[in-house]
Amino acid sequence: MAKKYVELAKKVKCQIIKGSFQFGDKLPSLRLQANTHRVSIDTVQAAYAMLEEQGVIASKPGSGYFVDYIPELESTELIQSPTKVSLQHAVLKVLSHCTQSRCSLGIAELDSALLPTAQIAKLMKRHIRYSLPELLKTEFSEGEPSLRAAIAKYAIQRGIQCMPEQVTVTAGAQDAVLLALKAIAKPGATILVQSPCFPGILQLIQSLDMRVIEVENDDVGHTFVAALRQVLMTVKVDALVLVPTLNNPDGTTFNLAQRKAIVDICTTHNVPIIENDIFGDLHDVKTRLPTLMSLDQSGQVIYVNSVSKSLGSGFRIGWLITQKYHQQIKILKAFSNVSENRLNQRTVADLLSSGYYQRHLTNLKQALGQQRNLYLSAIAKYFPQQVRVSDPQGGYILWLALPTNIDSEALLERVVANSVCFFPGTLFASDLSYKHFIRINMGAPFDAAIEAKLKLLGHEIKALS
Ligand SMILES: Cc1ncc(COP(=O)(O)O)c(C=O)c1O
Repeated sequence: MAKKYVELAKKVKCQIIKGSFQFGDKLPSLRLQANTHRVSIDTVQAAYAMLEEQGVIASKPGSGYFVDYIPELESTELIQSPTKVSLQHAVLKVLSHCTQSRCSLGIAELDSALLPTAQIAKLMKRHIRYSLPELLKTEFSEGEPSLRAAIAKYAIQRGIQCMPEQVTVTAGAQDAVLLALKAIAKPGATILVQSPCFPGILQLIQSLDMRVIEVENDDVGHTFVAALRQVLMTVKVDALVLVPTLNNPDGTTFNLAQRKAIVDICTTHNVPIIENDIFGDLHDVKTRLPTLMSLDQSGQVIYVNSVSKSLGSGFRIGWLITQKYHQQIKILKAFSNVSENRLNQRTVADLLSSGYYQRHLTNLKQALGQQRNLYLSAIAKYFPQQVRVSDPQGGYILWLALPTNIDSEALLERVVANSVCFFPGTLFASDLSYKHFIRINMGAPFDAAIEAKLKLLGHEIKALS
């Protein structure tokens, strides 16, 4: 394993390549960097000296270190060693802040105003009226037949040809990723993810006692593909977990060539892919990009999705599709939570199979597009100019890079008393690389109360800048 300072130098260099620090930007002080990466000041000094020698950064006596040159991508330098994650306490603390503050900018979810609640209520009432005794019985299968059939039919639109028997219904996408990881890998396994990564996935890896390799990405996906090729040539990886469309939090979407390359590279190295398509339905494009599963000939891809981002996460209905790992997953499911709520399954089945879901998506995407513009205008108005904001082509999540001296957790502590919440960047990696980033949820219609919260947040960021 590389020495700590070499690892840190690679990390800082990578952050410079992907634009977290621009030409002329001041780097975090030795002390801040040491706290951030949980290393000694000597280690930071050695890492900075290494980067100075390479001409990437320069020191100005009495002022600190500054970016002096933006290096070209050398994918070998992006490889990190597998590490353990320990984020659970931090995530629980932020979730509790979000609940207490009742602020919609925190948890990534849609406001009920954007959900088809009347239609859901109508369908549920009908099922309760006509099928309640049956719905209260245990279901020993991998999901309601009507839902598995509706999902298999729906999957065709994502280029996936599958039989209902290949579909397993789960308690959301998180549960689906859990089952997939358990089916593929054992404790101690190495799981590769894109970075930044949704904290739920990092927590799963932690709870299964696995290790993670986080591969940094740039806005256009190029860094990730180059590094993936390099990592798989040098490290034994047991699975790749990927959100190829609108990654949470940075919104990255891989293009067709990148998708093909990812599938090819993983097939060559025999690495199973867990494709998490949870935001796929919210991508604002006329022609949707193919799923990794539709590009795969080897059966290495397990496809995961849920209705959490489009119909409400309280449904707790998700699914996975696989042929190769189906048997292991069937056993894992039978001996874990047995089955999901049957009323919810039948309601989702109705929505999918009647075409209602498609119409809902068209309206939802339009509303979200308008909403996003309002949020972006408010951020442009109230946040300092140095703040860089992601440009997601759909969905309702924004990823913001604040001035590098800002500690997003400290910022959260300052604003939470005023009922403002967000997810600090520290939750999206096993280390503190994204300490000065924040994620904002735009799932609630923009109104005066949200504008006031963004104004206050912008004011605090300015005060700390
Ligand atoms: C990438 C990703 N995966 C999984 C989940 C969890 O989804 P579910 O509520 O369906 O379990 C989320 C929720 O934000 C997510 O963003």
